[in-house]
Amino acid sequence: DTKQIKPPLTIKLCAPRGFCAGVDRAIQIVELALEKYGRPVYVRHEIVHNKFVVDGLKAKGAVFVEELSEIPADDAGRPVIFSAHGVPKSVPEDAEARNMFFLDATCPLVSKVHKEAQIHDRRDREVLLIGHAGHPEVIGTMGQLPAGTVALIETEEDARKFQPKSDRSLAYITQTTLSVDDTAGIVAVLQERFPDIVAPHKEDICYATTNRQEAVKHVAPDVDAMVVVGAPNSSNSQRLREVAERAGCKVAVLIQRASDIEWPDFEDARSLGLTAGASAPETLVEEIIDAFSTRFEVIVETVRTAEETISFNLPRELRDVVSTPQ
Ligand code: F3S
Repeated sequence: DTKQIKPPLTIKLCAPRGFCAGVDRAIQIVELALEKYGRPVYVRHEIVHNKFVVDGLKAKGAVFVEELSEIPADDAGRPVIFSAHGVPKSVPEDAEARNMFFLDATCPLVSKVHKEAQIHDRRDREVLLIGHAGHPEVIGTMGQLPAGTVALIETEEDARKFQPKSDRSLAYITQTTLSVDDTAGIVAVLQERFPDIVAPHKEDICYATTNRQEAVKHVAPDVDAMVVVGAPNSSNSQRLREVAERAGCKVAVLIQRASDIEWPDFEDARSLGLTAGASAPETLVEEIIDAFSTRFEVIVETVRTAEETISFNLPRELRDVVSTPQ
């Protein structure tokens, strides 16, 4: 029995990666609500799109529902938290009608887009939303205005075919977690067709999405493969995988845990890029490095393309909770 020599593998860790300020805040809101109000605390929709995070909060006493109507009448007085992705206007209205106590964990950068939609509408502009149909953020943003008011644009093709519903002037807003490059393409089509279309003052694609894509773009040309840690329903994680693929990584995979690694994909790899979507905890990145270390002689290098210092305030109701250090 000959002892196997492990092949070398350089892991280039993309930085920034993983948790953004909005995800951090949303998770904290659930934890602090549990601390202040006890269990159960209800959460409408996955607080952030990560099973590991959701399971951890479930174990602490959070109960996840898709709709407020699923909350048992006996528990109507328990707090309910809206997820980081944001909700249509009808949801807080419904919660008020049911006399529920709610806390809003919508990321402030998503709320900013909600406000833009309302301002455009008030200024008599027809609103176009660039985003992916069915994503909860898109449902939430479209739901800031009456049904049928916001036009959804998913592709350049949609932008080419779009017909205004009225003679109001036009404005566009976007989902926060889109591909920077795809969005630029769609915006270019819209601006060519409608030169007066009003654009957001500052990009709606958030800093975290932009920085994570930028880091992947930087690392991708230097590695044989790219691993993105994140959930399949996480928009920003999916975009990171696409960015890696487009930048030339033949192997570019999105995985949730180390157990998802398809080892034959990495047989010939000598260098690997590693990043994580904005909702994926760092422990999962470490788990994946450990898994590679059992088969390769791993050297880890961090490649940083941006510094992030942004953080968001907690809702007023939770600012008095003194968190006990772990
Ligand atoms: Fe907010 Fe961007 Fe994170 S919109 S939740 S900071 S990915």
